[in-house]
Amino acid sequence: MVTGKPLLTAEQISHRVRELGDMITEDYSGKKLLAVGILKGAFMFFSDLVKKIRVPLTVDFIIASSYVKTGTSGEVKIHYDIRDDISGKNVLLVEDIVDTGITLNHIRELILTRSPESIMICAFLDKKERRMVDVPIDYRGFEIPNEFVVGYGLDYNDMFRNLPYISVFKKST
Ligand code: IMP
Ligand code: MG
Repeated sequence: MVTGKPLLTAEQISHRVRELGDMITEDYSGKKLLAVGILKGAFMFFSDLVKKIRVPLTVDFIIASSYVKTGTSGEVKIHYDIRDDISGKNVLLVEDIVDTGITLNHIRELILTRSPESIMICAFLDKKERRMVDVPIDYRGFEIPNEFVVGYGLDYNDMFRNLPYISVFKKST
């Protein structure tokens, strides 16, 4: 079940997304950007964020899923990959949440093999306590405690993505 009180309200989220958009706009001033959303989780954050970035940009997407195995390694499967040639481009990877860091680290290394001009990472949520792989987060929305959260694109069994806020999810017993 979704617990009563939102962890992050729609107002807090939109305020923070505007701040992130301003930071990215400033940092990329005079440059062109390729914003890459990591689906499905980042779809809502991605669409709100790009509206707040005021430099010329193109968008593309990656669909990935990760399967954490025993130990510290996980396997990441890419179901859909970027279609554009990214060599020489300024890539901004946009992710919903960094948990172990396995998914984002894998995607970042994959992109780096394709010679982008630069690569930066924007993550809406950071569950730092759970990190297994160190991945640099250049723009962070919020750091959250070690709880399973849903809403604003994030799911439990593919549900709750449509909630306009972030809530803690607890399995009902
Ligand atoms: P990582 O590879 O462990 O960093 O996992 C990242 C992916 O796991 C995210 O992109 C989410 O899809 C999913 N995930 C991790 N924590 C949560 C959560 O609290 N709620 C919903 N999805 C989560
Ligand atoms: Mg995800």
